[in-house]
Amino acid sequence: MKLLLMGPPGAGKGSQSERLVKDFELTSISTGQMFRESHRNEEPLGIEAMRYIERGELVADDITNEIVRKRLLKEDAERCFILDGYPRTVSQAKALDDMLAKMRSKLTAVINITVDKKAILERMVGRRVCKQCGLSYHLAFKPTRQDGICDVCGGTLYQRPDDQLESVRNRLEIYESKTQPLLAYYKGRGILREVDGMQSFDAVYQAICAVLKELT
Ligand code: AP5
Ligand code: MG
Repeated sequence: MKLLLMGPPGAGKGSQSERLVKDFELTSISTGQMFRESHRNEEPLGIEAMRYIERGELVADDITNEIVRKRLLKEDAERCFILDGYPRTVSQAKALDDMLAKMRSKLTAVINITVDKKAILERMVGRRVCKQCGLSYHLAFKPTRQDGICDVCGGTLYQRPDDQLESVRNRLEIYESKTQPLLAYYKGRGILREVDGMQSFDAVYQAICAVLKELT
């Protein structure tokens, strides 16, 4: 199974992918997570990428394509993976098609999680992320047992710099102009499915599972 989760910033891609990875033993490939991890490790790539991320802008296509290309070549991505946050431009989608064709592979499905703007803002403003393991929480919708501490690894929670209102606005604009056109690209190939993201975590997850069942 080779899946791509799409949707606007804050739609719930990361949250759903965390659960799908566990239940279906998929390899998670999230470009946002990879950039944040690289920044945490003080690598030049992560430091450079964070200059764009903080402002809510996209990291350059060639840099992003290259990290995905290297990641796809690892053994754990050979059979099953779930992409979240990549591709984000038509040019990245074409680069991904080329990479997969070289591996004699292709995407099984693209699942688009739809959410309205008000919910996006609420979700992003209340999001808190574990500094250590990257798990995502929400002050109101998914609180931790102990304030500010990750339930799983005990790491400290922080607010992503790109969850500040100015960056959020920028990310939404970029999503609409650069990423939304990708939906038509995948629809044309008959592999796009929509899931209503305005439901509870669990209901969204069940809707995704129903799509997967239909496909396999
Ligand atoms: P990335 O990390 O991919 O961010 P994003 O796409 O903007 O999406 P988010 O991670 O903000 O949201 P999500 O959909 O994962 O939602 P989540 O599950 O966390 O990218 C960050 C940046 O990196 C980009 O802006 C760009 O600069 C750069 N980048 C990354 N990929 C790139 C690429 N391919 N090319 C160029 N640049 C790239 O949920 C959000 C919150 O809502 C959480 O608090 C969660 O608990 C809550 N929530 C989720 N679902 C529900 C629900 N059903 N009900 C109630 N609350 C919910
Ligand atoms: Mg995410």
